[in-house]
Amino acid sequence: QQVEPFDYVIFGATGDLTMRKLLPAFYNRMRSGQVPDEARIIGTARTALDREEFVDRVREALVRFLPKEVRDPSLIERFLMRVDYVTLDGTKSGSDWDGLAAVLSTAPPERIRVYYFATAPQLYGAICENLHAKHLITPFSRVVLEKPIGTDSATAEAINNGVGQYFPENHIFRIDHYLGKETVQNVIGLRFANPIIEAVWSSDFIESVQITAAETVGVEGRAAYYNTSGALRDMIQNHLLQVLGLVAMEQPESLAADNVRNAKLAVLNALRPITGDAVRTETVRAQYTEGMVGGKPAPGYLEELGEPSNTETYALLRAFIDTPRWKNVPFYLRTAKRSAEKVSEVVITFKTAPTHMFSTPPIANCLVIRIQPHEGVELHLNVKNPATDAFTLKESVLNAEFEMGGGLPFPDSYERLLLDAVRGDPVLFIRRDEVEAAWKWIEPVLDAWSENKSPMETYSAGSYGPSKATTLLAENGHHWHENME
Ligand code: BG6
Repeated sequence: QQVEPFDYVIFGATGDLTMRKLLPAFYNRMRSGQVPDEARIIGTARTALDREEFVDRVREALVRFLPKEVRDPSLIERFLMRVDYVTLDGTKSGSDWDGLAAVLSTAPPERIRVYYFATAPQLYGAICENLHAKHLITPFSRVVLEKPIGTDSATAEAINNGVGQYFPENHIFRIDHYLGKETVQNVIGLRFANPIIEAVWSSDFIESVQITAAETVGVEGRAAYYNTSGALRDMIQNHLLQVLGLVAMEQPESLAADNVRNAKLAVLNALRPITGDAVRTETVRAQYTEGMVGGKPAPGYLEELGEPSNTETYALLRAFIDTPRWKNVPFYLRTAKRSAEKVSEVVITFKTAPTHMFSTPPIANCLVIRIQPHEGVELHLNVKNPATDAFTLKESVLNAEFEMGGGLPFPDSYERLLLDAVRGDPVLFIRRDEVEAAWKWIEPVLDAWSENKSPMETYSAGSYGPSKATTLLAENGHHWHENME
């Protein structure tokens, strides 16, 4: 399934995202035969480099970031032939644009063009204005916007307006790499292709839902960005709310982009607002202090930063979706840096069997959707304990590991998304109204946190989070997945 020939123009081509994620993703898709030989990847950035210098950087990045089993020196050289570079400050309207225009003009006019913005989001509008002024937006052009789309509703709206002035909505691809993860897409497959699952997918059977994205890494070299963002903006506003949308949505009529996006949007719009005193009772924010991560001492967030900060590295929200399906079911959304383990998962806890007939009480059934690592699903069941004659129960786990086949790792989430933009399929990208609805819901929490209306908790680096996160669940008689066993 080769895609049509394309020109991909990356703004911010010398940055970490391009080197670590985008270029290896293109290489992998070329390796699997999906990138045609005429395709070109044209990097642009302010750093003055000639093509050879840029190509050297790309070669180094591929060697560094590609897994050994897919690194093929002759394929890397073939890939590098597709790479070009133009020194350009996309926000200035100067003559540097002529270089880009010259490169693009050598392709047929109907060539698909994708402009990928991997730069600071406040620059998106200015870059679009210049693309327009230089007549570089053809009817076959699309734009991919990296997150974060703004820092609140007003800035998101400004970015969306700036880009929307020059690109129609169906040519704007707002990327959320969680939607590129196979196991996130699989929520749709699991729910709607398996009647035995969808039949119990409501408050009649489900007690609570946990959606977690935890990481062992700290803020690494990204403190300047992260400290102005924090966990709620960085992970919950986008990735976790998208996963929530797929877990909680009503069945869309089809997999057409607008059907799926309408269904997710309806979930976002039905989220009960967390405002006023609820911010104190329904949310937890925290910063990590020094601790041990993977057997090594790790400094606290403030030590790493070297200055005081009101930015959370851990966020937990207890959300409710006010629809008949989800009546009174708490959705616990949590994310953490410097956690005990790297894990992204959805844990569906079912109601416990209403029976006293066994000598030991049954556990609540629980379906765990492992987004990463160890992609798969597991179902926790009660079975008779064969070691005793008395009718005692023991827990047994049905475990399905998802496999790619051929011993290959799962494709990186960017791979498919990059080519979906070429194919013009926006189903796994976020529509404008979804971004704005997500900001609208978290904004009261952001505001209250910035006014210190709920205390900043702490947790040791390498732990599962602050103790208040455990007590918040205990109020409903619930436990975190890691404490269930
Ligand atoms: C990014 C965040 O969007 O997602 C990072 O900005 C975070 O802070 C990353 O590390 C996590 O992605 P993944 O795919 O490793 O779970």
